[in-house]
Amino acid sequence: MRHEGKVALVTGAGNGIGKAACLAYAAAGATVFAVDIDGAAAHSTRNAIYAAGGEAQAYSADVSQADDVQAYVQNAIHQFGRIDCFFNNAGIEGVVASTMEYPEDVFDRVMAINLKGVFLGLKHVLPHMVKQASGSVVNASSVGGVVGAPGLCAYSASKHAIIGLTRTAAAEVAQYGVRVNAICPSAIQTRMIDSLAGMYAPDDPDSVRDQFVARNPSRRYGLPEEVARVVLFLTSEAASFVNGEALMIDGGRTAV
Ligand SMILES: NC(=O)c1ccc[n+]([C@@H]2O[C@H](COP(=O)([O-])OP(=O)(O)OC[C@H]3O[C@@H](n4cnc5c(N)ncnc54)[C@H](O)[C@@H]3O)[C@@H](O)[C@H]2O)c1
Repeated sequence: MRHEGKVALVTGAGNGIGKAACLAYAAAGATVFAVDIDGAAAHSTRNAIYAAGGEAQAYSADVSQADDVQAYVQNAIHQFGRIDCFFNNAGIEGVVASTMEYPEDVFDRVMAINLKGVFLGLKHVLPHMVKQASGSVVNASSVGGVVGAPGLCAYSASKHAIIGLTRTAAAEVAQYGVRVNAICPSAIQTRMIDSLAGMYAPDDPDSVRDQFVARNPSRRYGLPEEVARVVLFLTSEAASFVNGEALMIDGGRTAV
C-alpha cells in the first residue's frame, strides 16, 4: 500500500472521494497531480497535502473536453515525467427524474463528464503507461453501474458503461504490464449523496438517508477514506494480478 516515488494523477480531486484519494496517496509517499474543473478546490487539496508535508500540483481542467484532458496529461508528464497511478474519478449525478421525463441536455452532460471523461482519460493516460511498461488505473463506477438506479437513468447508464470501458481497456493493455480496474461504491458521505437526497425528497432529505441506510446491511454510508484505501490497494503491487475487475465497495449493499 506504500506508493513512494510514484506519481498519482487524480481527477475530481477537489472534493469528496477524489480529495480523500489525493490525501491518502500523499500520505503513502506518492507525488499527487490533482485535477478538477474547480481550480480553487484542486488548489485546496494541494494545500492540504503541502500542509501535511507531501508533494502535489493542482491543475484546472474539464474532463469532458479532449483539449483539457490532453493538457492535464501533458502537464503531469512535463512536471513529473511519468504517471504510475491514475484515479479516473470525476463525475456528476445529474438530476433525479424518471426516464420518461429525464431532460435530454442533462443526459448529454452526464454522459459527457462521467463516460466520455473517463474514456478520454484512458485514451490519453494509457499510452504513457504502456510506454513505461507499468501503471495502474482505477475508474469510478458505482453500485449504480451494476444495478439500476430509479430516477438516475443517465448516471446509471454512464456507470454501467464505465465497466465496459474498464474491461476492454484492461484486456488491451495487460500485455504491457498495465492494469485497469473499476470501483463500485454505494452511498458515500460526500456532497454528491447530499445533493441526491435533496433531489429525491426536497422536504425531507433525511428520509432518503434513512432509506439508503436501511437497505445497506452495514446500516451506514461509507466514508471517502474507505473508498480511497481501496483505490490505493488496486493501484499497488499488492493487487498486481487484479485486472479488469469492478470491485464493490458497498458494505454488502449488493450482496443481498
Ligand atoms: N458519493 C457517492 O455516494 C458515490 C457513490 C458511487 C460512486 N461515486 C462516484 O465517485 C466519484 C466522485 O464522487 P464524489 O461523491 O466525491 O463527488 P463530489 O461531487 O463530492 O466530487 C466530485 C468532484 O469532481 C469535480 N468535477 C465535476 N465535474 C468535473 C469535470 N467536468 N471535470 C473535472 N472535474 C469535475 C467536482 O468539481 C468535484 O470536485 C464520481 O464519479 C461519483 O459518481 C460516488
